[in-house]
Amino acid sequence: MTQQIQLIIDTDPGVDDAIAILMAMAASEIEILGLTTVGGNVPLARATRNALSLLQAASRSDIPVAKGASRPLRGKFAYAPHFHGPGGLSQRLPDPANGPVEDGAVKFLYDQLTGERGEAVLVALGPLTNLAVLLRERPIALEQAKQIVVMGGAVNTPGNVTPEAEFNFYCDPVAADIVLSSRLPITMVDLAACRQVKISREQALGLKSATPLGRLMLDMLQGWFHREASREEFEFCDPLAMAIALHPAIATATKIDLDVGIEKGELLGATSETGGPGEITLTQDVDSSRFFALFGRLFELR
Ligand code: BDR
Ligand code: CA
Repeated sequence: MTQQIQLIIDTDPGVDDAIAILMAMAASEIEILGLTTVGGNVPLARATRNALSLLQAASRSDIPVAKGASRPLRGKFAYAPHFHGPGGLSQRLPDPANGPVEDGAVKFLYDQLTGERGEAVLVALGPLTNLAVLLRERPIALEQAKQIVVMGGAVNTPGNVTPEAEFNFYCDPVAADIVLSSRLPITMVDLAACRQVKISREQALGLKSATPLGRLMLDMLQGWFHREASREEFEFCDPLAMAIALHPAIATATKIDLDVGIEKGELLGATSETGGPGEITLTQDVDSSRFFALFGRLFELR
């Protein structure tokens, strides 16, 4: 029997967040302990609604959602309606019947990470605000995580918000800096890794699935292409982070230390190497055929 992975997903859904969450739901080896939300792609209220709506659409309203940070540690979130659509998902899902749990994200994360149930894997798919607040307020909790996988940063590759910065780190560079300088064993999946797993319009629109989760995933992915005829390819950023949490061997990695630019200016949110080897495990070469094999298996794509 494969060992169950207990997973917590910190997220700002987001089309690619939604696809990553659906991957986790489709993976029999994963037990999702909960989702924690953060503003980023969309404002917090919308991110929380999207998380709840997605779970409902997937008939998984049993999974708790805890609401997190509506603002970064400094400034405001950038939001990305041009990419994810005004509501954050490429199509509108029915309003959720359930609300989030009473506890906020930081308390939820603390309880789940330090609870009796043992070691949980934390996958962070949005700005790192919730994780940074947890580190500041209850530093012991993240040390209990079995693994922390972060999607963010652009190391030695162009950014996607500014020439230097990736969206999640740009949204809350102070939080990214706190988390990356924590010396915690973090696996980082940056834009250079994500750009190795893309799907073309033609390939994406040709896919079919016989499973409910697969069809929901395709609604998101194909809906994203349908929104704009000029869209030629989709990068699987958050889904790659999820795949690496599930199967680290689909990519090689190197150990480094990083600085995150926190001063206003050209380098805000930028990631630069400070030398190595360090504590951060940076994803390097991705075996994209293994990623797509996993993706196809989870959603029974044909
Ligand atoms: C990251 O930014 C967001 O728009 C995506 O959801 C992903 O987490 C990619 O830079
Ligand atoms: Ca995201």
